[in-house]
Amino acid sequence: MAIQHSSATSGATRPEIRRRILTGDRPTGRLHIGHYVGSLKNRVRLQNDYDCFFLVADYHMLTTRLDRLSEVEQNIRDMVLDYLSVGIEPERSTIYLQSLAPEVAELHLLFSMLVTANRLERMPTLKDMVRDLNVEVTYGLLGYPVLQAADILMVRAHLVPVGKDQESHLELTRQIAGRFNELFGEVFPLPDTLIGDVPTLVGTDGKAKMSKSLGNTIYLSDDAETVTQKVMRMYTDPTRLRATDPGHVEGNPVFSYLDAFDPDVTVVSELKERYRAGRVGDVEVKKRLAGSLNTFLEPFRERRAGFAARTGLVEEILREGSQRAREEARKTLAAAREAMRLNYFRG
Ligand code: TRP
Repeated sequence: MAIQHSSATSGATRPEIRRRILTGDRPTGRLHIGHYVGSLKNRVRLQNDYDCFFLVADYHMLTTRLDRLSEVEQNIRDMVLDYLSVGIEPERSTIYLQSLAPEVAELHLLFSMLVTANRLERMPTLKDMVRDLNVEVTYGLLGYPVLQAADILMVRAHLVPVGKDQESHLELTRQIAGRFNELFGEVFPLPDTLIGDVPTLVGTDGKAKMSKSLGNTIYLSDDAETVTQKVMRMYTDPTRLRATDPGHVEGNPVFSYLDAFDPDVTVVSELKERYRAGRVGDVEVKKRLAGSLNTFLEPFRERRAGFAARTGLVEEILREGSQRAREEARKTLAAAREAMRLNYFRG
């Protein structure tokens, strides 16, 4: 006779069987096309197969931007609208605000005992943040990746779709989970990282990474005219002075974007050939790119406008999502406390 679990006899559907995804972003502003190919595309694709949690990481903003906190609320709205516009569905996935599920702070505290300061001081992302943002390393900033580990492990996620720059944080997350399990018993799964098909999209200026702080972005919510302007000003091949000079396709951001966003592979490879042979000018290639980007972005813009018109929608989504995240947080935290014997004088 088959073994029956009590919940199986109740006939209830058991969505908790689905594997979990958690990922998110700091509310630093609007999301750009680099976020899309790096991570958003995977999120949209996987939301049917996984139980997804998408986090707006406002606590993380406190680690670097204490001088800019007045912008955060607007950024949160923009980001949630960006999520909705690319096709993340709150009926299917949980979108939540980190500070509305504050249990994560206690998990962060517990985890902070499992990682050395030296390990955190050597995180490559720490150096980047200090350099790009010109900030001092507070205790909180040092703990940034530990808080991220708490986000992920709080819902016991199995998979984390992120941009390539986040790989080191995921490695630390697995280390913390492994260490916890080894010391106190199996509480956490070791989550896998999922990097998008374009791991790092170059900026419009040709710099290695598209980033708001570098001012080389194309936003998902940019209107058609802005996109066209940004494309026409894009960096191309600096060695090419005339349209008749043979041009370089590799490392040329215009072609990187065509590869990522123009669905017509034949036309793009034809353009590349003509570019290499000095038989097409930058302007023609850029016009093609502006067209393909605008075709790609138009459905997002339309959906965004629809959602933006609904007063109170963002708040409602975050409130409901945070409630659900919080339920999971409470369960996980109870398990972690129990495992660490933080259960004296209970009841
Ligand atoms: N550090 C991530 C970034 O800057 C944002 C983030 C916070 C995150 N918590 C997370 C990403 C948990 C994935 C999982 O992009």
